[in-house]
Amino acid sequence: MPTLVGKEVGPTGYGTMRMTWQAHPPAQEVCFETLSKALELGANFWNGGELYGTPEYNSLHLLNKYFTKYPEHADKVVLSIKGGLKPGQLVPDGSEENIRRSVDETLRLLDGKKKVDIFECARQDPQFPVEHTVEVLAQYVKEGKIGGIGLSEVDAETIRRAHKVHPIAAVEVELSLWSTDILENGIAKTCAELNIPVIAYSPLGRGAMAGAVTSINDIPEGDFRRHLPRFQGENFQHNLKLINEVSSLASRKNAAPSQIALAWIRSLSGKPGMPTIIPIPGGTTVDKVVQNMSGVSQLTDKELAEIDAILKEHEVAGGRY
Ligand SMILES: NC(=O)c1ccc[n+]([C@@H]2O[C@H](COP(=O)([O-])OP(=O)(O)OC[C@H]3O[C@@H](n4cnc5c(N)ncnc54)[C@H](OP(=O)(O)O)[C@@H]3O)[C@@H](O)[C@H]2O)c1
Repeated sequence: MPTLVGKEVGPTGYGTMRMTWQAHPPAQEVCFETLSKALELGANFWNGGELYGTPEYNSLHLLNKYFTKYPEHADKVVLSIKGGLKPGQLVPDGSEENIRRSVDETLRLLDGKKKVDIFECARQDPQFPVEHTVEVLAQYVKEGKIGGIGLSEVDAETIRRAHKVHPIAAVEVELSLWSTDILENGIAKTCAELNIPVIAYSPLGRGAMAGAVTSINDIPEGDFRRHLPRFQGENFQHNLKLINEVSSLASRKNAAPSQIALAWIRSLSGKPGMPTIIPIPGGTTVDKVVQNMSGVSQLTDKELAEIDAILKEHEVAGGRY
């Protein structure tokens, strides 16, 4: 079992983002059932954020309510929270004042119902060196207010610099069948060398690799994916070939595409030269969580070779953002 901040976590975690941050978020009861199912099936590493929603209603409000209802689940969950943006805006503010505001607000909203095991700034503010960010957060670790420090969307050099100031508990970066950059840009290699687990965000390609998006019309109005380059017109038509190849492999294996996408990430985890990698798929219904947490635990060498060949043949069109 992978270990994060000294606690064992399942090989697949859970991302709560879309429970509070999308045009039509699910009802609270649906979220509670889904979260409970994720935990029951072994996804005890949860990812949320102050930014996932508004200052009035975001992950932290939902998690407070969840752990108020299920206090016995609090110690079973290892929770990672992102913050450090200007309140209500998707703009990083790495000043000590704002990082403190964000951590304090996170703790206030959770109200002791659940410990913050890892806190991380969602994006590094280019106006402040990462050493400054980590020094501010290290004070919270020292005071026992957060369990550890994570990094999100950073490059390999930033990881090295941050880790010199204070041990980094986890690095959260995008990794999926259509976002393989970290395998080549030094991030996976650096994390392996420093023994820092990688948290693979958007592991289902924001739904595309789960076969949930076959046209832009599958994405609801107001959903920010409508603006992402790889879901646009010609790019998406091109990317559909990759999506279809993955779906075809899945059906030959009698599996769901999401199960293949997640098993591929888990198969990389801990390989020689690779760090521990924990995917955190979203999925706001019990059915999706059950599907993502079951079915295919490992892929054979032959299947992995087939996936490599598919990825080589179908270069993704359009940037991640
Ligand atoms: N650090 C960062 O910058 C960053 C950025 C993005 C995300 N994240 C983290 O990563 C987590 C996951 O990312 P994500 O939600 O963007 O992408 P994802 O997990 O790759 O995909 C989520 C999408 O796939 C759908 N889905 C999930 N399981 C499915 C299944 N079995 N069959 C069909 N569709 C399925 C979801 O449906 P629903 O509509 O039910 O959700 C949602 O539309 C987030 O919750 C967040 O914690 C971090």
